[in-house]
Amino acid sequence: MREIKVKASREYNIYITSGNTNFSSILERNKIKKCFIITDENVYNLHKEFLNSIKDNIIGIKVIKPGEDSKNPEVVFSIYKDLIEKGVNKKTTILAFGGGVVGDISGFVASTYMRGINLAHIPTTLLSQCDSSIGGKTGFNYGNLKNIIGTFYQPLFVYIDVNFVKTLNEKEYKNGLAEIIKYGFVCNEGLFSYIEENKKGIEEREVDKLLHIVWESARIKGDIVEKDELDSEIRHVLNFGHTVGHAIESATDFRISHGEAVAMGMNIESYIAVKQDLLEERYYDRLIKLIRYFGLPLIPEGIDSNKLIDLMKKDKKNVTNNIKFVLPNKIGHAIITTEIKQGLISQRIGEALRRQLW
Ligand SMILES: NC(=O)c1ccc[n+]([C@@H]2O[C@H](COP(=O)([O-])OP(=O)(O)OC[C@H]3O[C@@H](n4cnc5c(N)ncnc54)[C@H](O)[C@@H]3O)[C@@H](O)[C@H]2O)c1
Repeated sequence: MREIKVKASREYNIYITSGNTNFSSILERNKIKKCFIITDENVYNLHKEFLNSIKDNIIGIKVIKPGEDSKNPEVVFSIYKDLIEKGVNKKTTILAFGGGVVGDISGFVASTYMRGINLAHIPTTLLSQCDSSIGGKTGFNYGNLKNIIGTFYQPLFVYIDVNFVKTLNEKEYKNGLAEIIKYGFVCNEGLFSYIEENKKGIEEREVDKLLHIVWESARIKGDIVEKDELDSEIRHVLNFGHTVGHAIESATDFRISHGEAVAMGMNIESYIAVKQDLLEERYYDRLIKLIRYFGLPLIPEGIDSNKLIDLMKKDKKNVTNNIKFVLPNKIGHAIITTEIKQGLISQRIGEALRRQLW
C-alpha cells in the first residue's frame, strides 16, 4: 500500500492499494469505531463483500439510486432522516463508498449534519479515484443547475483500491481516462508519456498500470489542492477541457458523458492554443492521438460555435464577462487566460468544429 499526505485545512492520507490491504486496519489506524455507509445500488450489489470485512463497525447503510439524478435535495434530506433514525452522532464516520455522485452527496451531508461529522472516501470509479474524492468539494444539483449548492469539506482519509474499477463499464472507465489524460497534458509531462507508452495495458486495466496512473493523478490533485484549496486560482488549471466540455454537456442536455465532453473540450481548447501560437502542433498531435486511441470523441456533432460560446459565458469560473480558458503551452504546462477576444474564440471554435482531420 502506498500513501500520499495532503496538507489542506485538515491533513489527511490517501491510501492506494490493489486489494491486498485489510481495510479494518485502516479504520483502526484512524481510530474509527462506528461507521455509516452511503453507497449506490450498483456498488452495493457488486462489492458488498468489501463491507462484510467491517460489518461490526457499521451502524447503518444508505443505498441510493445510481447516477447524477440522485444528486438532489430530496436524496440529501432522506439521508439526514436515516442518520437521525440510526442515532448517528459526532462519534460516527460517514464512509462514502462509490463514485463521484456518492462522494459529493456524502461529503455535503457529512459537512452539514450536526455542523459536521467525520467523513472518509472509498472511491470506486476511476474518475472518483483520481479526481473527485480528493480536494474536499461536496455538493448537489438544484433544478438544472449543477453543483450549485455545496461546501468544501476535507475527509479523514481516502482509501483507493484500484481493483474496484475492474467492474466499471467501458463508458465509465473512459470517463476517468479523459481526466487522467488531462492531468498529464497540463500538469505532468511524465504522466502523459507514461500513458502514451502503456496505453494497451491501461486499456486492459492491468493492475500495475492502474496503480501508477491513479497514484500520479492523486498526487497531482493533492498538490494543487494544498496550494489552492478553495479553488480561487491555481486549481483552475484542472478546468482544462472543461470550459468547452461543460458547454457541450449542456448543449446536448447531458446526453453525452462527462469524459467524452472533456475529451472534445481538450481538443478544441488545445486547437485554440495552437492558433494563438502558444502550443506547438506536434504536442497537439500527441494529444489527439491519445484521445483517439481510447475511443473518445474529438468533435461534437450538430452544435454551432455561437451556442457553445453562450453557454461558456455562464461558466461558474468566470468572474467577468470574459471566458476563462486554460490553454496548454507545452505538455505538462498551461496558462490561465481571460484575454482572448470573443470574436476570435468563435472563429477558432468554428474552425475546430469544421476540421476534418479526424
Ligand atoms: N467533488 C469533486 O471535486 C468532483 C470532481 C469531479 C466530478 N465530480 C462529480 O462526480 C460525479 C461523477 O462521478 P462518477 O463519474 O464517479 O459517476 P457516478 O458516481 O455516477 O458513477 C458512475 C456509474 O458507475 C457506477 N459504479 C461506481 N463504481 C462502480 C464499480 N466499481 N463498478 C461498477 N459500477 C460502478 C455507479 O453506480 C454509476 O452508475 C458528478 O456528479 C460530478 O459532478 C465531483
